[in-house]
Amino acid sequence: REHEGQRQTKKNSIRIGVLLYRGDDTFIGTLRTGLEDKAKEYEQKTGIKVKLDILDSKGSQNTQNSQVERLISLGCDALCINSVDRSSASIIIDKAMDAGTPVVFFNREPVEEDLRRWKHAYYVGLPAGDAGVLQGELVLDAWRTQRDTLDRNGDGVIQYVMLEGEPGHQDALLRTEFCISTLANAGVSAEKLASDAANWQRGQASVSMRQWLQEFGENIEVVFANNDDMALGAIDACAEAGLDKRSMPFIVGVDATPPALEALREGTLKGTVRNDAVGLAESMMELAVSLSVDGEPSQDLELTDERYVWLRYEAVTAESLEDQAVS
Ligand code: BGC
Ligand code: CA
Repeated sequence: REHEGQRQTKKNSIRIGVLLYRGDDTFIGTLRTGLEDKAKEYEQKTGIKVKLDILDSKGSQNTQNSQVERLISLGCDALCINSVDRSSASIIIDKAMDAGTPVVFFNREPVEEDLRRWKHAYYVGLPAGDAGVLQGELVLDAWRTQRDTLDRNGDGVIQYVMLEGEPGHQDALLRTEFCISTLANAGVSAEKLASDAANWQRGQASVSMRQWLQEFGENIEVVFANNDDMALGAIDACAEAGLDKRSMPFIVGVDATPPALEALREGTLKGTVRNDAVGLAESMMELAVSLSVDGEPSQDLELTDERYVWLRYEAVTAESLEDQAVS
């Protein structure tokens, strides 16, 4: 028995390095908690210790590159990377490849060509365009069922403003594009009054929205925000301008973070799209752990093109929250 144990090659403890593009990002914060929970669950289930080293790159790709080197030299079995600049993933991939350390990118998608540089580079995420489609559908639904409240000026056109995430982020680009194309595909005309890159941030979004309210006032019928924090920023500006939930435009976000769900229940936020933090944490852990322990991705994971794990977005409204609570 003892002899057998010695010959076993399986590790009884692993170390996983996690780099966050910015630790103060609301959605990334929920994801971080999810990862910590999953690591604990895995330990309890298997008896294999998981040490997570989670570092904040504070918006600097240079910092992140040195953090990668440090984590590799500390002997991490796998790295999970939320890159600052997704177009420079190749630097990280090369470092990890040289060290033979598997690397799992998440939330900020590297270009495929970079990912293909090495067989143990993966991406876990959600197909960005789908969130836009679901946002568009939330608005279409309101257009069909409550046109009077939505089309304030009664011209049969949706006047909207767009709060965009960081320029160049796949989620900013594709969510922006697909929410509008969804309206167009349904034959509903929309008119863009204004748009700004508010970089995922609540404060920046409220500054933009404050200006737009001064400029366009009641003419803003819909606010598309690429994420919930920016939607909440728009709501902050509306509240400051003295609007209540009935006089605010129809505001939609993406993420379903706890504060956004609160706003949904209050009725200031009209809809959001769940950016599956729990599912992401689960798949990332499963992938990083199996790569660390077996040197291969777990059979339980559904891999697309050998390197991608895709999760699904889901629309969330006050009604769907209630239904869930009841069932
Ligand atoms: C989320 C944003 C977040 C961003 C960070 C997006 O998927 O919707 O809330 O700020 O990722 O990269
Ligand atoms: Ca209108």
